[in-house]
Amino acid sequence: MDNRPQWGTRAGFVLAAVGSAVGLGNIWRFPYVAYENGGGAFFLPYLFAILTAGIPILILEFTIGHKFKGSAPLSFFRINRKMEWLGWWQVAISFVIATYYSVIIAWAFRYTGFSFTKAWGDDTGSFLKFDYLKYGDVAPGELGGIVWGSFLPLVLVWIITLFILFKGVKKGIEKANKIFIPALCVMFLIIVIRAVTLDGAAQGLDAFFKPNWDTIWDGKVWVAAYGHIFFSLSIGFAIMITYSSYLPKKADITNNAFITGFANSGFELLAGIGVFAALGFMAAQSGVGVDKVATAGVGLAFAVFPQIINEMPLGEVFGALFFLSLVFAGLTSLISICEVFIAAVSDKFKIARNKAVLIGGGAASIISILYSTKGGLYLLDVVDYFVNQFGIALAGLIEVILIAWVFKQMKPLQSHANAISDIRAGLWWKICLSIITPLVLGYMMFDLLRQNIMQKFDFESGNYEGYATSFILFPGVAIAIGVIVVGVLFTLKKWNRSTIEEYSASKDKGVGL
Ligand code: ALA
Repeated sequence: MDNRPQWGTRAGFVLAAVGSAVGLGNIWRFPYVAYENGGGAFFLPYLFAILTAGIPILILEFTIGHKFKGSAPLSFFRINRKMEWLGWWQVAISFVIATYYSVIIAWAFRYTGFSFTKAWGDDTGSFLKFDYLKYGDVAPGELGGIVWGSFLPLVLVWIITLFILFKGVKKGIEKANKIFIPALCVMFLIIVIRAVTLDGAAQGLDAFFKPNWDTIWDGKVWVAAYGHIFFSLSIGFAIMITYSSYLPKKADITNNAFITGFANSGFELLAGIGVFAALGFMAAQSGVGVDKVATAGVGLAFAVFPQIINEMPLGEVFGALFFLSLVFAGLTSLISICEVFIAAVSDKFKIARNKAVLIGGGAASIISILYSTKGGLYLLDVVDYFVNQFGIALAGLIEVILIAWVFKQMKPLQSHANAISDIRAGLWWKICLSIITPLVLGYMMFDLLRQNIMQKFDFESGNYEGYATSFILFPGVAIAIGVIVVGVLFTLKKWNRSTIEEYSASKDKGVGL
């Protein structure tokens, strides 16, 4: 265990954790989720979700990583050998996310270049559909050949990511975050200041913040808040366990969790302000309401934002900064997502880090090419939906149930965290994790299954996004189930004896406890 890599400084760890949390989800998902679910009124369920699930799970995952000093499968195995499969399930989820997350960063890279000449022209939606990604040429479910404009920046994204990962935890990940995160903050602040000073910005902010209190009584809004924070805080898919396994013995767990959680929310709020101020400007320019231009995801970033850039003074600079922010925010998250399977493979098969980067990163980069085809966007849409809804949140739910109820780990983990932290994880922490989170997440899963399986697969009301049932079943459901199967298969290989003995020996010496 002594040769496990370690963060160089506390700031290095916190920056890496914040870098993982702050990602594409904060910029293009949060503003719209908030707007759609009650605007200003959404902040109540959002804050509730952060305080009862987000930060408590962050504390839990930081403690597990710090105490058991392993990748997720190894840490869970050290809790109880019957928990290892959950670690592999989360590793498989991360692997799938890495394959498409990298492609979105590649598009943002390409759009950074496009910004300088506004290469997308006047009709930005058609440009995206027919000239750039060319998904307009194929039906959902068809791949239709490689799109070089997406493939080449994808190669670049993988070269940068794998290079940083090859360099290791301290010299690679920590150093990269120390450069990318401050740069991202500066760029993003410039964007937000520019956006709020545009004509019509107030109208956009009004739409974003205006509270619709009626929504508070709708269970869906609370579910949306819970659903969002898992992806946004990088919890439930093994990232924070992996990162905290590199912490030194002396580390303040709860404090770091609060800093990470609030930094992520602060960034998210800033993104909401920037995005809606810009949408307000666009609505004012086109003489329509903000509701007509508000959207999320690929459409927001690659069709609506280019339109905003077309309309505004010095749009080229604003555009380049916006897309470069997406690249930086995305890269620091992608690095953390890949570290999950690199650490797991290296722990399980006892292979050197370089080899694990080559195997894990190599496999993810090759599979990611699928999303660089003409039909890539459709595939990405389905896979992202299922992995998010039935992957991360479900894995998070099972994680808290196993830890709190089946293997009864709350007390020992609480003592571990409190022995080294300033802020105590008290009774509130146990109540949040063993009662509130399982109840809300359990209801959420039930509701999701009821709505998505029963209603959306029903031909009368139409499928998710109107996609053919076979297209949803194959990549969507198959991947959601496949990641569990992969998880179980990996547990069949036994751990190296020395890996198990290392931990028992260190436990006897009091290391890691
Ligand atoms: N937490 C990362 C994001 O929000 C994965 O994009």
